[in-house]
Amino acid sequence: MRWGSLRTQLTILSFAVTLVGILAVLFYVTPQLQSSLRDQKLRALGETARAFTPQIERLVRDNGSDEQMDNLVSSVSDRTNARVTLVGVSDGPEGLRLAVFSDSDTDNAINDLELTVADAAARTGRTSVGTGASRLGELAQVAVPIRDDGTLSRVAVFSAPMADVQGNVALIRRQILIAGALGLLLALAGGFLVSRSIARRVRVLERGADQVASGDFTAVFPTGKHDELGQLARALDDMQRQLAQLESARRRFIATASHELRTPIFSIGGFLELLEDEELDDATRRQFVATVREQVERLGKLATDLLDLSRLEAGSLELRREETDLGALTRVVSAEFAPALDKHGSTLELRLAADRIEAVCDPERVAQVLRILIDNALTHTPTGTGVVVSAARHNGCVRLAVSDDGPGISDAAAERVFEPFFTSDDAQGSGLGLAIARELAERMEGSLEVDPAQGRTTFSLELPA
Ligand SMILES: Nc1ncnc2c1ncn2[C@@H]1O[C@H](COP(=O)(O)OP(=O)(O)O)[C@@H](O)[C@H]1O
Ligand SMILES: [Mg+2]
Repeated sequence: MRWGSLRTQLTILSFAVTLVGILAVLFYVTPQLQSSLRDQKLRALGETARAFTPQIERLVRDNGSDEQMDNLVSSVSDRTNARVTLVGVSDGPEGLRLAVFSDSDTDNAINDLELTVADAAARTGRTSVGTGASRLGELAQVAVPIRDDGTLSRVAVFSAPMADVQGNVALIRRQILIAGALGLLLALAGGFLVSRSIARRVRVLERGADQVASGDFTAVFPTGKHDELGQLARALDDMQRQLAQLESARRRFIATASHELRTPIFSIGGFLELLEDEELDDATRRQFVATVREQVERLGKLATDLLDLSRLEAGSLELRREETDLGALTRVVSAEFAPALDKHGSTLELRLAADRIEAVCDPERVAQVLRILIDNALTHTPTGTGVVVSAARHNGCVRLAVSDDGPGISDAAAERVFEPFFTSDDAQGSGLGLAIARELAERMEGSLEVDPAQGRTTFSLELPA
């Protein structure tokens, strides 16, 4: 048994809660019960005394004989189930003196009865309620003064044992203790069982998480239950699925990247072999060298793109943040494409908002995104396609857009153009351009979206202004 384990803690907790409950009942509720039972007893005795005293009073006034008085007292005692004592009161030189006149309880020595309550009644002239002691234990007592011709001559004392109250309370306390002991056993057993099942479920989750951590994505998480552990299991299951997807994306990425790197290298190797042939004429040799240079350039670009993308994904690419005039930037970048436009037989139209468009961003990286977009608008469209580059404020953001009136992108392809290595035509590209552009946009807290409408394919970069 480990003290720090969930199971032990939960078991002890349920035991402790039950114990506190039982102690609270014992030490808080039982005393209250006892005092309310005592009050009830005294009240009932008071009512009895008020109901039966008039009979005694009448006999006192009528000067009944001692025997008549003894008979009345014992018959009242029989009917009320209380010990009835008639006490005579006389005014002596040392104050009031009380003497027992008649007592219903003949088995008991009369001087055993405490007369404190009777004394109080005689002194105040009012009914007095209290407790006294006797050999039978504590007594509830009610003393009613009796007047004869206006002078207080007697006090009728009704006494009933409190023993039954104490007995009842003791019985209840005993029962609480027995029920409490049973409750504690149940709490221990219940706490143990519940916490054992919780601990078991936690252990299953832990084992699953370990399995996922070691790269095995086939762990089974019990997701059936709808409590917090069920939720945790579902969260872990989701995590496992996402990790599996990431892992397979990573594998795919590495496989494609190696393939993309290998193709130009093999091609270069092949041409180098051909170049070793000494009988090659000059023109062919020059053509082969040009092809090799092209492949080397492609390889170089691919290596740069891969490095950019991996830096972006690892979050290690440092971005500058500076106030940038995006209108000017768009103009400069567009101007770079003059030779390419010429070769493609295309025109580039610049649509810039009249006022300055400024944003805090990394100008180098925004230019890189623009280059990728304009380059695509030229490489993936037929010759003569018109390109429009615009910069404007839009919904509190800055929006740079590159659109062309080429044949557009199919909806299926549009969903995937931002994936690394995705290419949908045979233009010689590695498919990393848009992936890099989107990562850059997101790193600058902006977004890059495509609207693949036919005849007007638009890529728009939005940046916070
Ligand atoms: N303006 C465009 N018109 C048509 N297709 C486009 C356009 N821009 C991008 N695409 C498609 O998206 C794919 C991915 O583009 P990109 O990531 O830049 O890779 P690459 O240009 O190296 O092929 C392209 O292969 C092309 O099929
Ligand atoms: Mg491209």
